[in-house]
Amino acid sequence: MGIFSLGSSVMPIGLDIGTDHVRAAQLKPSGAGLSLVGYGLVNMPMGSVVEGEIVDVDAVSSAIRELWRHSSVHGKDVIIGVSNQKVVVRLIDLPFMERDELEGAIQYQAQDYIPIPVEDAILDFHIIGDYMTPADEHMMEVLLVAAQRDMIESAVQAVEGAGLRLAQIDLTSFAIVRAALGAGTAILPGEEEEAGEATGVIHISSGLTNIAVVERGVPRFTRVSSIAGGQFSQAIANVLNLTFDEAEELKIRAGLPDIETGTQPLGPEGDLGTQQLQVAQDALEREVNKFIAEVRRSLDYYLTQATQIRTIRKIYMTGSGAQLSNMAAYLEKGLQAEVVLTDGVSHVTVAPGAQQAAMADRMGAAPAVGLAMGGAT
Ligand SMILES: Nc1ncnc2c1ncn2[C@@H]1O[C@H](COP(=O)(O)OP(=O)(O)OP(=O)(O)O)[C@@H](O)[C@H]1O
Ligand SMILES: [Mg+2]
Repeated sequence: MGIFSLGSSVMPIGLDIGTDHVRAAQLKPSGAGLSLVGYGLVNMPMGSVVEGEIVDVDAVSSAIRELWRHSSVHGKDVIIGVSNQKVVVRLIDLPFMERDELEGAIQYQAQDYIPIPVEDAILDFHIIGDYMTPADEHMMEVLLVAAQRDMIESAVQAVEGAGLRLAQIDLTSFAIVRAALGAGTAILPGEEEEAGEATGVIHISSGLTNIAVVERGVPRFTRVSSIAGGQFSQAIANVLNLTFDEAEELKIRAGLPDIETGTQPLGPEGDLGTQQLQVAQDALEREVNKFIAEVRRSLDYYLTQATQIRTIRKIYMTGSGAQLSNMAAYLEKGLQAEVVLTDGVSHVTVAPGAQQAAMADRMGAAPAVGLAMGGAT
């Protein structure tokens, strides 16, 4: 028996199934907060997960089994996250009703708001609050989540195929918000956000970028985009005729050109390596500009819907793909907001047994850690 005894795990393990990696995070209550007692990641075979959807259930099950063998998590109960084009999240206004009444009614109410036939969807909702209209009608604001049933079923099969039990399914974007801002964060106006302001959270991984807007700690808007780290690498591969793996390596080495000085012109001594680096930086810059335009469209859409909110002043950025050098500066300029690079473990303490694995992957840890945080509430 080791020095660090886990005892029985009361909280389910956060399991984040991604394009490049599958990750697991295990939390334990500790004092007033949460302690990360187990963490790990293993590679996902290429093509098994595409844009957040499991396409090869058996390959994913094997990867999860491998993760359980090679990480410090112990237990069988897991919470998984979903995030892809087959999940829609809508903020809707409904006449006020009690929670149990809404549970019965949501199926009939939902179809007007979602593009998926209700009979093919799994529905969930979060009541955000209620209010009175000027005409004295009692209304409520509800965040409606609808996920395509077949997509959820593949995820369930992958988990069960790995010999685990599915305790809960959550939205990956909610998990990311939790990990980036802290669980149950109720931001008071004037504290972090002034009146009329909201906060953005952007998570960049390989196949997907998650964009969320949070008001006073409550997520009110989420969207996924397929412009993410993989697409950045692919752009470099295309322009330099490299393999994807070569392009990945070059991307990480090159980063974005300095936003003030741009790509440095080649001196007379410019060799092939330097030339490649410059071409890579330029390709990356074009791709990142597309990325910024996409994020801006999402945020603008949100701002046109949210009548009380005029600006998104602060954006938390996380995810492995957010580690491109100079990325924050590009986003600050393109989105006219303060961009704060944040990791996935800033709101938990990291126990010695998880230290090495978690710290090496702290930029990529937000979904798994945030999923596990959701199991605490
Ligand atoms: N230092 C770095 N600089 C830039 N990009 C990086 C760096 N390190 C990793 N990345 C990129 O991060 C991406 C991998 O992120 P991650 O492992 O979180 O994806 P994933 O969770 O498996 O996929 P997804 O959630 O999108 O399905 C790759 O595109 C990789 O190139
Ligand atoms: Mg991921």
